Amino acid sequence: MELTWIKLLVFMACLSFPLMVECRDRHYKFDVVLKNISRLCDTKPIVTVNKQFPGPTLYAREGDRVLVKVVNHVKYNLSIH
Ligand SMILES: *[C@@H]1O[C@H](CO)[C@@H](O)[C@H](O)[C@H]1NC(C)=O
Ligand SMILES: *[C@@H]1O[C@H](CO)[C@@H](O)[C@H](O)[C@H]1NC(C)=O
Repeated sequence: MELTWIKLLVFMACLSFPLMVECRDRHYKFDVVLKNISRLCDTKPIVTVNKQFPGPTLYAREGDRVLVKVVNHVKYNLSIH
């Protein structure tokens, strides 16, 4: 309920002050790949996003639309939080 109100307010703010509140679409692509890392004598696979672990930080403002295209190159199903 509250979230809907906030969305509505942001939407109205975007309509009224398009220059003040910049609402935009942000597109990101995640390439999810399994990578072996060696730490001490141990090598183990970790899931990386765009060759990074932890994954990349997404930047967005209130009212932005964030579109993430996730390409899973890992042979099992996974979820992204
Ligand atoms: C990671 O190591 C495993 C086992 O040693 C190997 O089968 C696999 O191909 C390696 N993967 C990569 C991405 O290097
Ligand atoms: C991944 O998820 C899909 C859809 O839920 C399912 O059909 C498939 O069997 C799963 N694959 C594995 C390797 O768990």
